[in-house]
Amino acid sequence: MKTRHLLLGLLLLPGLLAAKVTSSSRPHQYAVASAHYLATDAGLEILTRGGNAFDAAVAVSATLSVVEPISSGLGGGGFFLLHEAKSGHDRFIDARETAPASATPDKYLDATGALNRDRATNGPWSAGIPGLPAGLVHLADHYGRLPLAVSLDPAIRIARDGFPVYARLANGYMARREVMERYSGTRGVFLVDGTPPAEGEVLRQPDLARTLTLLAEKGHDGFYKGEVAAKLLAGVKAEGGEWSAQELSAYRIRERRPIRFEYDGWQIVTAPPPSSGGIALAQMLQMLEPWDLKALTQAQRTHLVTEAMRRAFRDRTFYLGDPDFVKVPQRTLVSPEYAAGLRATIHPGKATPSDMLSGSQTPLEDEDTTHFSIIDAEGNRVAGTQTVNLLFGSGLIPPGTGVLLNNEMDDFALKSGTPNAFGVMGYEANAPQPGKRMLSSMTPTFMESKDRVAVLGTPGGSRIITMVLLGALAYADGLDAQSVAALPRYHHQWMPDALSTERNALPADVAAALRAMGHTLNTPEDAPDGRRSSDAWGNLQTVSWDKSGNLLSTGSDPRNPVGSGKVIEVKSKVKP
Ligand code: DON
Repeated sequence: MKTRHLLLGLLLLPGLLAAKVTSSSRPHQYAVASAHYLATDAGLEILTRGGNAFDAAVAVSATLSVVEPISSGLGGGGFFLLHEAKSGHDRFIDARETAPASATPDKYLDATGALNRDRATNGPWSAGIPGLPAGLVHLADHYGRLPLAVSLDPAIRIARDGFPVYARLANGYMARREVMERYSGTRGVFLVDGTPPAEGEVLRQPDLARTLTLLAEKGHDGFYKGEVAAKLLAGVKAEGGEWSAQELSAYRIRERRPIRFEYDGWQIVTAPPPSSGGIALAQMLQMLEPWDLKALTQAQRTHLVTEAMRRAFRDRTFYLGDPDFVKVPQRTLVSPEYAAGLRATIHPGKATPSDMLSGSQTPLEDEDTTHFSIIDAEGNRVAGTQTVNLLFGSGLIPPGTGVLLNNEMDDFALKSGTPNAFGVMGYEANAPQPGKRMLSSMTPTFMESKDRVAVLGTPGGSRIITMVLLGALAYADGLDAQSVAALPRYHHQWMPDALSTERNALPADVAAALRAMGHTLNTPEDAPDGRRSSDAWGNLQTVSWDKSGNLLSTGSDPRNPVGSGKVIEVKSKVKP
């Protein structure tokens, strides 16, 4: 738990040390957890200025866009899951990027017909039309209490005045340096003094501050029309890409009905398509529900959870895509009956080879994206996951905008059956089409039982889904928010047929028992086929509300040293 700033007039209670208050109808406190302390503080600032969780979400999201260009930003997209305490309604704001009309599949093939990975992940062709700015405007206009300009204020200030570069940002830049430095607009932001950003240096983004200011003043038109739009179009064109002014100005968010199901006394509310995460989560938890996982050995539990992961990812490959373009058999896929059918194919003591349920194998690559979780004093909640896809997205900043464009096009099945950067593949359902949204794994999620509420999510590419699954199982087991964020992680995605883990995620005897059941393990310590998993995954940010004790608490992933979860007690409402 990292406590950085005390806000005047309020008692700041880091994470688990939340104060006890008297009534459980609303928390009388508010809590924010995000991947950067400045974003968490921006959310708290807006809450103390009278905003609600939705205003705070605008502040956190926009500030993350400034301080974590490695992960997300105005040039990307995101999903916001909302819970309105007053109405009890849950909503899902889909601010996912869309495919430009120019992005036909042939543009992503090389002379031999193979997927051109450089085009798919770097520069203008890798970028979809950004959705995040429209998401912020929609959040403020339809759910917030404060004007957009107020909620964007902290982000504008930090973009203008700068923030200290942290190790992950500096290291991420070096990992993507070659691509970033292809583009003059990007060099102009990151090489101001001629050298890459170094830890501790202050990074100022005056162009981004101006873009945010235009968004604050003009709303949707401030980004999708006028000066910013003209610069985005010119920057994409100058690097050989093709976006039209019409498709930029026509970008709209979608409000969708979240997926809702029950697991072991918990109501789970989660992300619908074009996320694959909610359907997969519903499938996995419902497959697992009848088993008393707590009573099993760790090896047995890990085996069953892995088999559930394998089956859900197989369905992801074939059935899921943008519901505005393809018919997703959602009702069937999330039904308990379908889960029961899949469960019946799980052998209690033996791994099912994935090719019994074919495919090629690709290593997982570096990854980034970001998640934040908020509960306000009225009980409103936001789970926001936003992304530019891979580290620093496409690497391209159209000159004069400060907007780093995403490389989300790689989340489409650009070539049928060819794995993307996360090793996941797809077919027709996720083929690119003009205006279509690429399939995502982002899984912002709420869980509610009779005495607890949890808001959770994480980055991690295809592993997002299984990290949220493990987090949900841990909450269901009674773990506190920080333990949920710290939990060791493992993952199976059908293809490649391997159970990947973080370093030391499984004790040696458990790993041996799983191998004996037929699982191929891919761990940082040991990967027989050379596909070593990376040491640490994800950046899970969660807040929870214990309704019986009326306590809010936060869990900020200990893998990320600049993350921050804080709880603030609203003093005037607390009885002595
Ligand atoms: O939407 C998706 O599923 C991906 N673009 C998310 C990328 C991601 O999480 C990268 N990682 N940490």
